[in-house]
Amino acid sequence: MEVVIVPDAEAGGELIAEAMAQLLGRRPDALLGVATGSTPLPVYQALAARVRSGAVDTSRARIAQLDEYVGLPAEHPESYRSVLRREVLEPLGVPMAAFMGPDGTAEDIPGACEAYDRALAEAGGVDLQLLGIGTDGHIGFNEPCSSLASRTRIKTLTEQTRIDNARFFDGDIDQVPQHVITQGIGTILEARHLVLLATGEGKAEAVAATVEGPIAAVCPASALQLHPHATVVVDEAAASEL
Ligand code: GLP
Repeated sequence: MEVVIVPDAEAGGELIAEAMAQLLGRRPDALLGVATGSTPLPVYQALAARVRSGAVDTSRARIAQLDEYVGLPAEHPESYRSVLRREVLEPLGVPMAAFMGPDGTAEDIPGACEAYDRALAEAGGVDLQLLGIGTDGHIGFNEPCSSLASRTRIKTLTEQTRIDNARFFDGDIDQVPQHVITQGIGTILEARHLVLLATGEGKAEAVAATVEGPIAAVCPASALQLHPHATVVVDEAAASEL
């Protein structure tokens, strides 16, 4: 695992956007796995700036979703599909036809989870998966004690994650769905390159457990230690417990 400490979130965004730009230069139809949350926004902004300046061509790029709420209509502004359309696809000029994600509104949720894992494999696998990290060490929505070999499946959110995400739902935890579909940890580990970005002091403990703790389900992000090509990009505040 490579750990890169950058001065601030903006520098982290630039660094990862550059890695994505270089990947798209080598492989224009690369499948980029993207995450939601506030942390990755500087990455998307820095990559969009490169697209606008003509430095990156995203006309053949493909985008894959990491996780999704169960039961929110796809057009709900806080469904992760809507969030990614707004924050990633539109700014990068990538059409919805080049986007893949799990169906959180399916009647058969286990079937939708299996279908998504299959679709990722049939698409040739994720080339670069960008990850954030929850304050409890979760990646995607793999909460603590998720199996490190898990596949895409339905999960129940912890109270802490629902509290953390209430800010996207008018601060009202009751509006935050209880269930989600998430790529499993085993699924995530199949991406060719994992890049985790963590910024701010609130993530310092989770980062320390990820990088220096034992590989343990209690800190799902520690599974990155098992991956042959994992990069953890942290600002100085998130690195403060290392
Ligand atoms: C949610 C997402 C994760 C994300 C996490 C942290 O739980 N499912 O993918 O990493 O939030 O979000 P933030 O970056 O806003 O702290």
